[in-house]
Amino acid sequence: MKLNLVEKLLVNNPARALVQRLYEGPLLRKLGGRLDGARVLDVGCGRGVGVQILLEQFGAAQVYGLDLDPQQVRRAQQRFAGKSEGRVVFAVGSVDKLPFPDEYFDAVFDFGMLHHVVDWQAGVAEIQRVLKPSGLFFFEEVTRAALNRWIYRTFLDHPAENRFSEAEFMAELPVHGIEPLGGLRRILSNDIFIGIAKRT
Ligand SMILES: C[S@@+](CC[C@H](N)C(=O)[O-])C[C@H]1O[C@@H](n2cnc3c(N)ncnc32)[C@H](O)[C@@H]1O
Repeated sequence: MKLNLVEKLLVNNPARALVQRLYEGPLLRKLGGRLDGARVLDVGCGRGVGVQILLEQFGAAQVYGLDLDPQQVRRAQQRFAGKSEGRVVFAVGSVDKLPFPDEYFDAVFDFGMLHHVVDWQAGVAEIQRVLKPSGLFFFEEVTRAALNRWIYRTFLDHPAENRFSEAEFMAELPVHGIEPLGGLRRILSNDIFIGIAKRT
C-alpha cells in the first residue's frame, strides 16, 4: 500500500537519506559484498536514494527502481534526469507482480517495503522468481512488534493483517528457495532487522 502523508515526509527527507547512505548501504555492502557489473533491482525504491547507493556504493552496472506509487517514481526519475547514462530504469508496479522476466537480476534490494504489503509472501516469491540462481536478496525490514507500537499505529498507515515478526520473515525465505546468510543485524530495540539471503 502507498505511504500516508506523515510517512512520505519521513522517507522523503534528508535524514532518511543520510541513514540509508551512511548506515544501511555500508552495512549491507559489508554483509553481501560489492555488486560490480551487476544488474540490480531496488523494489519499493521511493524517491531513488537506494538506487543511487547501489550505483555509487555497490558498483552496480544497471539499477532498476520499482515502486507502487507513481509520485515516488516521478521523484526518483527527477533525481536522475539527464545523469544516469542509461544505467537506471524506473517503473511503476507492485512487488507481488514484478514486470521482469525470470532470473533477470543478480541482486534484489528491499529497503523497508515488504511490511507495506498485505501478501508479502507473494512478494518474496516474486523476488525469488526474478533473482538469478545464487542471486542475493538484501533486506531491511520492520517487525510486527514495531508496527503495533502506539507511535506507528497513530501516525503511520500499514496493512492491519498478516504482519510478520523477524522469525516469521526469516522462516518464509527458504519456503520460496531463498536461504538466509549469516550476519543478521537488529536495530532500534529489535524493531528493524537487516540482512542478506541467497537464492538457491
Ligand atoms: C517505507 S517506504 C521506503 C522507501 C525507500 N525504499 C526508502 O528506504 O526510503 C516504502 C516504499 O514502498 C512502496 N511500496 C508499498 N507497497 C508496494 C508494493 N506492493 N510494491 C512496490 N512498492 C511498494 C511505497 O510506495 C514506498 O515508496
